[in-house]
Amino acid sequence: MTLGLQLLSSFREQHTEKVQNRMTIGVPRLVSAPAYLTDSGAAYCGDSIELLAQLPDSSINLVFTSPPFALQRQKAYGNKDQVEYVEWLAAFAREVRRVLKDDGSFVLDLGGSYEKGTPARSLYNFRVLIKFCDDVGFFLAEDFYWYNPSKLPSPIEWVNKRKLRAKDAVNTVWWFSKTAWPKADITKVLAPYSDRMKKLLADPDAFYTPKLRPSGHDIGKGFAKDNGGAIPSNLLQIPNTESNGLYLDGCKTVGEKQHPARFPAKLPEFFIRMLTEPGDTVLDIFAGSNTTGQVAQAEERRWLAFELSRDYVATSAFRFLSGDNTHDEMRELYDRIERGEAVDLNDYLFQRTLLSAAAGE
Ligand SMILES: C[S@@+](CC[C@H](N)C(=O)[O-])C[C@H]1O[C@@H](n2cnc3c(N)ncnc32)[C@H](O)[C@@H]1O
Repeated sequence: MTLGLQLLSSFREQHTEKVQNRMTIGVPRLVSAPAYLTDSGAAYCGDSIELLAQLPDSSINLVFTSPPFALQRQKAYGNKDQVEYVEWLAAFAREVRRVLKDDGSFVLDLGGSYEKGTPARSLYNFRVLIKFCDDVGFFLAEDFYWYNPSKLPSPIEWVNKRKLRAKDAVNTVWWFSKTAWPKADITKVLAPYSDRMKKLLADPDAFYTPKLRPSGHDIGKGFAKDNGGAIPSNLLQIPNTESNGLYLDGCKTVGEKQHPARFPAKLPEFFIRMLTEPGDTVLDIFAGSNTTGQVAQAEERRWLAFELSRDYVATSAFRFLSGDNTHDEMRELYDRIERGEAVDLNDYLFQRTLLSAAAGE
């Protein structure tokens, strides 16, 4: 056995034990074994309603998620009938409320929809909002709207063919909280100043005279203070146009299909930055390709991801590689997760370093 392979085999042995021990990194421990884990989080394959039940009370800072929407047209990941949908989702919401810390938040991204066969909007996303506040016990901390300028026109029948409706390019994003006082810091998500504001900051005296506006706002000298950015609004303009990156490259490399309904990383990033601090735990209960986990890790938060489809879980692991793995390594990683092995992704990060070291590179 070469030195490289000896090193690798002893490294693997130690790691098998560590896969379980690593679960003490600070994220709550589940009875189920993870599909994969990193130094900051763990992804589980299964029904979230069962996985949530394994989490202790008050253990999570933020649940950020985008459930399968109540669309009329079946998507590859399946949808529940609109009538059942609200009740179905409320069962998850009750468990989410239990596992959230008192100052925790639950942010839910919901796409709009039409009633079957008519150009009349479904009220399901508003029914979800009312149900979660009236019955489940959440507070609505704020309603957000995600505008995706790159969204293609839909539904085809009402927008493209008959030209009766505008294209639907805004999702409702409900920010729920367990109490009326969730942890939040808007200064962590300041927006760039407008050109007008930049000019004002550069030369306040030349630009305006302090006075009381008709609206009652006192636009005094303090208004010209540079706070590093503007307070963002609750309309988030984020295009959903990712066309490269580790995840898509990984799917292409091993010839597996990409998740069809990913949200852009900027969406969870905004709420993770505003509602949590480094070291806090973020959970996505409908994780799909695990965009949320990747962003949480980049932001130095801990994360948990729950996803029903093993195929989606297996490809989502590619997000956490360093980008220099071979096709065979990626295939092996994918197959191990598909077989139900608990994989420590550090194996795939350190393996190359070790082999390079052994080869004297
Ligand atoms: C809209 S997608 C989430 C996509 C994700 N935000 C991303 O960026 O990749 C919803 C996901 O919920 C998963 N799902 C549906 N029912 C589930 C359940 N009971 N437990 C866990 N995951 C579920 C689906 O398989 C699907 O991947």
